[in-house]
Amino acid sequence: MLYYLPRVNSNLPTALYCSVSKTKTLYFCQNCGNQSPKWVGKCPVCNEWNTYVEEIVDKTEEKLKEKRGYAGTRNEEVKPVPIKEVQELEMQRINTHDTELNRVLGGGIVAGSLVLIGGEPGIGKSTLMLQLALQLKGVKVLYVTGEESDRQIKLRAERIGIKNDACFLLTETNTQQIFKQAAQLAPDVIVIDSIQTLHTVYVESPLGSVSQVRECTAELQRYAKESSIPVFLIGHITKDGMIAGPKVLEHIVDTVLQFEGDRNYTYRILRTIKNRFGSTSEIGIYEMLGDGLRPVLNPSEILLTQREDELSGIAIAGMMEGMRPFLIETQALVTPAFYGTPQRSSTGFDGKRLNMLLAVLEKRAGFRFGTKDVFLNIAGGLRVDDPAIDLAVMAALTSSYNDIPVSSKIAFAAEVGLSGEVRAVSRVDQRISEADKLGFEKIFISKFNQKLDVKKFNIEIVSISRVQQLVEELFG
Ligand code: TYD
Ligand code: MG
Repeated sequence: MLYYLPRVNSNLPTALYCSVSKTKTLYFCQNCGNQSPKWVGKCPVCNEWNTYVEEIVDKTEEKLKEKRGYAGTRNEEVKPVPIKEVQELEMQRINTHDTELNRVLGGGIVAGSLVLIGGEPGIGKSTLMLQLALQLKGVKVLYVTGEESDRQIKLRAERIGIKNDACFLLTETNTQQIFKQAAQLAPDVIVIDSIQTLHTVYVESPLGSVSQVRECTAELQRYAKESSIPVFLIGHITKDGMIAGPKVLEHIVDTVLQFEGDRNYTYRILRTIKNRFGSTSEIGIYEMLGDGLRPVLNPSEILLTQREDELSGIAIAGMMEGMRPFLIETQALVTPAFYGTPQRSSTGFDGKRLNMLLAVLEKRAGFRFGTKDVFLNIAGGLRVDDPAIDLAVMAALTSSYNDIPVSSKIAFAAEVGLSGEVRAVSRVDQRISEADKLGFEKIFISKFNQKLDVKKFNIEIVSISRVQQLVEELFG
């Protein structure tokens, strides 16, 4: 019998292709998880180049999938349920005793949910999950680790300093064994550290490969749904911010949380990327201390640097992340450029947007940035997407340009458009009341923010419609 030999572009031994009758290889896109019998340069689904990697798939796997039902479908007959009953089930949530985690999960851990926590190595994913496991008093948690030994986990638990008899450790990487142990222990919550170390007997591909990761996640999803036990998965992300393994993982799980932060700072942000049980615009803020992660309940306090003198190039923005308002400091430095092309550098803020704001200042307010180096920084190592920060960025830029400080009692909350118009932003009253609460004396907002009950605030509200007005108000 003749076998077609696929083009070999991985370092798998050729013997595997020729001699084993049961083994079949397929090519998987590392980006979206699409599969193809042949190697292709450009993925027809996600249009990424050079993402196909060859993997061995057991021929029996497809049959097994048919038999078991793939990705969460069960073989038993499923009866329709009245929607009222379904909703009641969904409302069962476990309180994590961690305000930040509760918030990003949409109010607690939903029974039977599969939650993926992604983040760069060393950011604190294991710490976050172990801390959760330890502080869930009266809830039995099974912490499965394939990365570290139980002694290492114990050391970390000692560092966190919470004692909990209902927290169990299991060093195992085989999914079937995990399910077996879980059946005996009957935990209320399972944590898997990490999905990349798991393997299932149903797929022959190497550890951490696309099909292994995908199949293991699908098994866990089925398990979570059938047993109603919530499962947390830790997943590593690659340098470009993707959860290693296919993007398809994100489709399988119910909730995707991203743990991020700048290593040079102690602050960590837990961001909701996807949530079937809550809002996706929520964030949780933590501080990494010597004894674990501390939830930061009042972010404004840490994101505003304490300073004695008024310095130029600093302006405070009234931000929203999800439903939560907080104030954050933007810092700019504008200096004469000594090289041909002036530098533009921004940390925590979109570089293209910075260029746009500079162009608007040039065209509409007569500033000359063409011969200046411009640096922009958002305090606390945070990354900001809220367009309401625009006005504060402009204030910081012009303040540094003129070398005149903006009073530390002034806040800003508005978006800026291409023609220099100051645009309205959402939930402006929440932003104003946060600034009011923190003792700010003045806040600049857009004139187009309608229906504002000015009387309920002590803070002076300055409504402007163009950037020229901002410059006039600040620097006369
Ligand atoms: P870790 O949770 O192992 O990160 P990940 O699982 O994402 O790879 O923790 C990473 C860092 O956190 C590590 O460098 C040590 C530090 N750390 C603290 O600063 N305080 C603590 O209490 C703990 C447990 C860790
Ligand atoms: Mg870890």
